[in-house]
Amino acid sequence: MEGHAPVLLEECLRLLSAEQGGDFLDATFGGGGHSRALLEAHPQVRLCALDRDPEAAERAKALAAEFGDRFEFYSANFSSLDTLTGTVKDRNFRGLLFDLGVSSFQLDQAERGFSFRMDAPLDMRMDTNSGMTAADFLETAREDELILAIREYGEEVRWKRVVRAIISARGTGRLQRTAVFAELIRDAIGPAAKHSRIHPATLSFQGVRIAVNNELLAITDALPVAFNKLEKGGVLAVISFHSLEDRIVKRFFNRMSGRPEHGRDSTSVMERNPVAELLTRKAIVPSPSEIARNPRSRSAKLRAIRKL
Ligand SMILES: C[S@@+](CC[C@H](N)C(=O)[O-])C[C@H]1O[C@@H](n2cnc3c(N)ncnc32)[C@H](O)[C@@H]1O
Repeated sequence: MEGHAPVLLEECLRLLSAEQGGDFLDATFGGGGHSRALLEAHPQVRLCALDRDPEAAERAKALAAEFGDRFEFYSANFSSLDTLTGTVKDRNFRGLLFDLGVSSFQLDQAERGFSFRMDAPLDMRMDTNSGMTAADFLETAREDELILAIREYGEEVRWKRVVRAIISARGTGRLQRTAVFAELIRDAIGPAAKHSRIHPATLSFQGVRIAVNNELLAITDALPVAFNKLEKGGVLAVISFHSLEDRIVKRFFNRMSGRPEHGRDSTSVMERNPVAELLTRKAIVPSPSEIARNPRSRSAKLRAIRKL
């Protein structure tokens, strides 16, 4: 199994500008690529890291051994940032980084059930200690929840066929394993699947993953708390991989930096008194050479604000 290549690493380091050291927080430790780079590049940096995946906690032990009390790891969902105890509660940070979505460790390990390319139980939970597996979600979700997952989160244009196929497969065992579920989607989409550049199950798998892990709610809840935990002059940077995620980040950053919201003509308090400076007018995206080296980076978008 290969590791996870940190995305937009140089760009993140530049935006977080940690040269003078201080306290930083990596809200999505994953394989620790961004955490390690910050700790190695800047000896005065102290870093707290979080991840909801118990396997990330295992990987974090190597950094704890290497960097001693400069590094601290929390097994937690970043949506509960405001309830964490210890260092995270006591400190404000010079920089916080969110690198959203799943890691290559999660995608490439068949038994995690994220990939339709490897047969395994349909799990897809980032936190394997809690919550409902994807199989249980598909067996029990209401129709409107399935539509939200497949049409909104997955952006699957043939969502009606997929949702209908899921409902009629309930109780037959066809919603239990990745490979059979991928076949079910391919059959539901029918001949149109032949002309697609991507595997016909790609979008539905993405949608189910986002639903099972409540990914959009977690980021919506976490951004204001993260902003509160910034020191004055500190930077909040977010890498997203999905247009709905990016929209949440963009709107929050625009609001904090006093940019008028699209379609609204009255001036809000925040527009008159911005509390942040937008550091990325347009999202930063990976260079062609990064995409060539790491195709999984292709949909990444990096945005950042500085607290005033
Ligand atoms: C794209 S990876 C991060 C990779 C990391 N920056 C690196 O360079 O190795 C995203 C990580 O965030 C974690 N994650 C996603 N949503 C989370 C949440 N709500 N709370 C905590 N961790 C989360 C996932 O478990 C995954 O390990």
